[in-house]
Amino acid sequence: MMEEAQYFAPVNTDEHGEVTVELATSHPGFADPVYRARRNAIARLALDHRRGDPVPETEYTAEEQEVWRVVSRELAAKHRRYAVGEFLAAKERLGLPEDRIPQLQEVSEMLRPLTGFRYLPAAGLVPLRDFYGSLADFYFHSTQYIRHHSTPFYTPEPDVIHEVIGHGNTLASDRFAALYRVAGHAARRVETQEALEFVSKVFWFTLEFGVMAEAGELKAYGAGILSSYGEIEEFRGMTIRPLDLAAMGTTEYDITKYQDVLFRAESMDHLEEVAGGFWADCDDESIARITRSTVRT
Ligand SMILES: [Fe+2]
Repeated sequence: MMEEAQYFAPVNTDEHGEVTVELATSHPGFADPVYRARRNAIARLALDHRRGDPVPETEYTAEEQEVWRVVSRELAAKHRRYAVGEFLAAKERLGLPEDRIPQLQEVSEMLRPLTGFRYLPAAGLVPLRDFYGSLADFYFHSTQYIRHHSTPFYTPEPDVIHEVIGHGNTLASDRFAALYRVAGHAARRVETQEALEFVSKVFWFTLEFGVMAEAGELKAYGAGILSSYGEIEEFRGMTIRPLDLAAMGTTEYDITKYQDVLFRAESMDHLEEVAGGFWADCDDESIARITRSTVRT
């Protein structure tokens, strides 16, 4: 069911240094050689990038610029109905362009004075510890390509629309940015792979796919929902569970489908208390304790 699966196409570099993004045959851009060549070139930019340097500029085609315009406009209408107030205020504060795709460097320069965050280009999947750990240093790894223009409302992988309209707007909120950072510190602190996965699942079910009660309605704050044209209309019909660390940290999810179990925070304060409080001082031992208590029940 999920339209915007968090799936990354593998990126390979051959012995001649040629970079290839291995799109699945089902990918809307699979049979488009021009798109494929651009994806390879964009992946190369990310692989060659060194932290501390500006994010390299990407050229987008006129069709891709049109995808951004259409999706920005449609999502803006949906945000007004379905997004939490904290996100709407942050979006207003950031003021992303709606008529063209902003460069990651440009969004970094808009975000830094607000909350300190900036982007790092990612060619594809970033290992969990790097991805989350970098949040502690105010860095957000981001893809730079955009979905294929033949399917403006569908992408099988996270693209710049997800990274910027979903995460960028969220990172313009002081309160959400603080949560991203504390999750990053947690990822740095834990040592075992199990504990790291627990930390990342709590992130997944909150900052990627979280929903929140607001003025008697269910609203969304997760970047994955707020950047998905389809999912934003569906989340109210999903199974909604209370915000529970043990459940979030141990629930399996299928990254290729809509999230059919979502966790509801009762307010921003509640989210900060439960998820923020957990990330602030969790370690391998406390996570093992929470996991054991779930297995017993
Ligand atoms: Fe994401």
